[in-house]
Amino acid sequence: MTVIIVNDYESMSKMAGEIIARQIEHEEDLVLGLATGSTPIGTYKYLIDLHKAGKLDFSEVTVFNLDEYYPITPDNDQSYNYFMNENLFNHVNIDKKNTHIQNGEAADPAAECRRYEDAIHDAGGIDLQLLGLGLNGHIGFNEPDSHFPKTTHHVALDASTIEANSRFFASSNDVPKHALTMGIGTIFNARKIVMLISGEAKADIAKAVIHGNITPQVPGSILQLHPDVTIILDEEAAKHVR
Ligand code: GLP
Repeated sequence: MTVIIVNDYESMSKMAGEIIARQIEHEEDLVLGLATGSTPIGTYKYLIDLHKAGKLDFSEVTVFNLDEYYPITPDNDQSYNYFMNENLFNHVNIDKKNTHIQNGEAADPAAECRRYEDAIHDAGGIDLQLLGLGLNGHIGFNEPDSHFPKTTHHVALDASTIEANSRFFASSNDVPKHALTMGIGTIFNARKIVMLISGEAKADIAKAVIHGNITPQVPGSILQLHPDVTIILDEEAAKHVR
């Protein structure tokens, strides 16, 4: 893993934005895997600014998002579908038919997960996957478990994740209890991975992901085995990493 420590959130966002922008320029028909949460918002702002300055063209880019709550409607302002439109897609020239996210209101979630995994495969796989990190070490919504789930699947969220994400909802009762998420295998198949970690609250889990044992109890630790991973941390998150 390449571990890069930068001063602050802004520098982290700029560095990740530059990596993504260079890859978009370099590879026609790029397939990007994107993440939600508060961590990548600055990166998306950086990409929007580049686009508005006429320096970045999204017209040939395809996106697959990591995860979506279940059940949730796409027009719910806490859905990840809504988040991606608000924080990126509505502000750049991406073709909406090339943006993909799991259907949070699918009648048959298992069938929806199979459809999603097949769609990634049919697109030729993910070239560059952006990741955040959950406080409990989750990537996407792959929660600590006894095994590493391979493909896109339906998960019950951890009580700690519901609590952590309740800050965006009226109360923790309003947080959906389930999600549809790319599996660890889906993420691991991405040719290149960039993970962002920001803030002191993530300092312990950042250390576990980077230097700890590789275990499904810390899902992000599997990245130690991937051939092309860059982790960008700000100073606060990197407190215990050096
Ligand atoms: C969410 C998402 C993850 C995200 C993580 C961290 O639950 N499913 O993809 O990386 O939590 O969120 P934040 O960046 O807000 O700390």
